[in-house]
Amino acid sequence: MSSSSGCCLLLISVLIIFALAHLTKGQKNSTLIFTKENTIRNCSCSADIQDCDYSLANLMCSCKTVLLFSVEQTSYQGHLTIWFTDISVLGLLLNFTLVQDLKLSLCSTNTLPTEYLAVWGLKRLRINTEAKQQSSAPEQSLLIHSGSESESKEKSMYLHKDWQACMYISFIDMALFNRESSLKSYSIENIASITSNFPYFSYFKTIPTPSNKSFVVTFIY
Ligand SMILES: *[C@@H]1O[C@H](CO)[C@@H](O)[C@H](O)[C@H]1NC(C)=O
Ligand SMILES: *[C@@H]1O[C@H](CO)[C@@H](O)[C@H](O)[C@H]1NC(C)=O
Ligand SMILES: *[C@@H]1O[C@H](CO)[C@@H](O)[C@H](O)[C@H]1NC(C)=O
Ligand SMILES: *[C@@H]1O[C@H](CO)[C@@H](O)[C@H](O)[C@H]1NC(C)=O
Repeated sequence: MSSSSGCCLLLISVLIIFALAHLTKGQKNSTLIFTKENTIRNCSCSADIQDCDYSLANLMCSCKTVLLFSVEQTSYQGHLTIWFTDISVLGLLLNFTLVQDLKLSLCSTNTLPTEYLAVWGLKRLRINTEAKQQSSAPEQSLLIHSGSESESKEKSMYLHKDWQACMYISFIDMALFNRESSLKSYSIENIASITSNFPYFSYFKTIPTPSNKSFVVTFIY
């Protein structure tokens, strides 16, 4: 009798441990990187922080300072939010990196030049120009490819295969932050070779391109 109740207790505690592990796993932090006067802070946040609220981010998130010269090419799996003030640091952090779900918030009133930011594998882009206080819906969102977050496991596995066979690259025109018009994009699919298809677009010359892959090239402006 006592052994069976002991067993039961053990089972219950095992179940509780599993439930707790599941709960903590379900609570995903998101990455927030912000730049301010050549300082880069890389944060892991469990809550959504109002754009460009640097002090709140420092308070609520777990942040580390990243030295400018130590920034390395990397890739980001989940959501990545970047608050930036000028495009040179943004380019250093993001140009030609892999990010699937990106939010860019401009935290200054600077006018940005027509320069492209290249991002591999971008699925969703959100932009915000917090500092300009445009009253009419400052945040905009664009879904570039392979849809909803509620997609089935099967489908996402299929997409994963597709992902490998095909390379997605997006070019974001930084001057779009100056405009009040809505975000637009166009994609060109099944491009065998980027360099020969866009001879006048000099960015492509800088990309190392595996020759036997096809590309989907998206321009966002
Ligand atoms: C920011 O931190 C994440 C992990 O928390 C890491 O994967 C990423 O490389 C870091 N980015 C930079 C620019 O340091
Ligand atoms: C998640 O974010 C909180 C602060 O918002 C931080 O204390 C915690 O360490 C973060 N967890 C991970 C795994 O980075
Ligand atoms: C991204 O890299 C390309 C090619 O090196 C460069 O011409 C462009 O200005 C960079 N974009 C930004 C925003 O730094
Ligand atoms: C692409 O080419 C490389 C060598 O050039 C080869 O190893 C690889 O298997 C090829 N991939 C596909 C999908 O054909």
